[in-house]
Amino acid sequence: MGFVTARLSATLEHTMIKKTTPLSTAPYKGVRDFYPRDMAIFNHITDTMRSVAEQFGFEEYQTSLLEPTELYLNKTSAEIVNEQTYTFTDRGDRSVTLRPEMTPSVTRLVAGRRRELPLPLKWYSIPNCFRYERPQKGRVREHWQLNCDIFGDTGVRGEIEIILLAHEIMKAFGARDEMFTIKLNNRTILTDTLTRVASDGGYELDENQTRAILRIMDRKEKLSPEEYANAMQEAVGAEIGRTLIDAHTPERVGAIMAELPSLQAFVALQEELHRLGITNIEHSTELVRGFDYYTGLVFEVFDTSGENTRSLFGGGRYDNLMELFGQEPIPAVGFGMGDTALRDFLETHKLLPSYQSRTTLYIATIGETFAGAEYVAQQLRAQDVSVSVNLGTKKLGEQIKQAESLGIEFLIAVGEDELRSGTFTLKHLPSRSERTVTLDDLAEALFSFEEHA
Ligand code: HAM
Repeated sequence: MGFVTARLSATLEHTMIKKTTPLSTAPYKGVRDFYPRDMAIFNHITDTMRSVAEQFGFEEYQTSLLEPTELYLNKTSAEIVNEQTYTFTDRGDRSVTLRPEMTPSVTRLVAGRRRELPLPLKWYSIPNCFRYERPQKGRVREHWQLNCDIFGDTGVRGEIEIILLAHEIMKAFGARDEMFTIKLNNRTILTDTLTRVASDGGYELDENQTRAILRIMDRKEKLSPEEYANAMQEAVGAEIGRTLIDAHTPERVGAIMAELPSLQAFVALQEELHRLGITNIEHSTELVRGFDYYTGLVFEVFDTSGENTRSLFGGGRYDNLMELFGQEPIPAVGFGMGDTALRDFLETHKLLPSYQSRTTLYIATIGETFAGAEYVAQQLRAQDVSVSVNLGTKKLGEQIKQAESLGIEFLIAVGEDELRSGTFTLKHLPSRSERTVTLDDLAEALFSFEEHA
């Protein structure tokens, strides 16, 4: 066998092996397939998010899923960058990352047109984000995340509006105040407190040390007391670490905080929210959030049922992220709300609507009436009725079952008689009630059926 023939037959053999090994139908681990019923839930979730964001005057934007890796190397989260990003080298040797979150991207957009954009901006987007996490309840490798952000509002107003919006979205899903709680904290209060605790012990913390401590505090719940102490001591040295842990008692922290000017503004925010009817808020002195870029308010929303222990969503103020692009700061505040934890919450509280097909009418065919049925469908579609025509050859009973399993509410059966007379029996499948209607009246009858049935 010649060289070329041998190579060719090896390739063929390889192809044949590949052909005979069936592929798995499972998606890549942790990413999402949406069968139609899941898609309906997903659409309900994103439609609701979109409509409330727009009620608050937020404008929609979109960016690419791919970003240069360097966008995430500073100021975000060490855990996400080092352990959770999907990063690869493209054919031009550039390092590319699938976005794990939207905040650096939206900041890039604002920085890119800073001079033309009229501040303050209120923007929203519902991107998919990728994080290489261990898939578990509420945590997947691909999630969709509503991002609502305000750029250019220096005061407390942006914070109030962001919390009002977060609260309103929950209400739009049918959630009542007692079903969720909004935990608030403020990074300035946290760092001021840390600085005081350290200075009382005779130490001075620099910016890097403070950031390292906040990162560890953010993971406190995931660590045993011993691991927590070790992590602290490793990050800032044994002595300061020990001092911080020993002195960081609730009583001591409470006493220090009471004297902080940063606490006054934070209390005022809570009072204003109360006045606006947002009462399911609480100050959580341990809330940090994982991203380095937060500079003030941080908040997370929790399910109170005990069923979903992770936070449903969260956000905060990040006034310095423009620095990534060498620009003067623009104050910013916003949040990210994932679709998976929210879906779990809605399921727990029975707040998901039952499935409703977007198709109004199913046209069953009796005999060779497909073309006539499509003609009827065309007339109805021209009047904004969504119609699905039977494509198969099954008996009428089977077609009715098919329509029911698709969740379609109305059905007409089209045989030669119906095509000749132009009169149809309109069935409302859930109630089994019927009406006789002409083709001209069919669309109107569908819209008013339930009132007259
Ligand atoms: P985050 O807390 O990392 O914040 O994510 C926000 C929300 O996205 C989470 O609370 C959760 O609902 C959802 N989420 C995050 N990771 C996953 C995952 N692996 N699986 C399912 N859902 C997930 C941020 O991303 C900030 N950039 C939010 C922000 C916007 N801050 C200011 N503006």
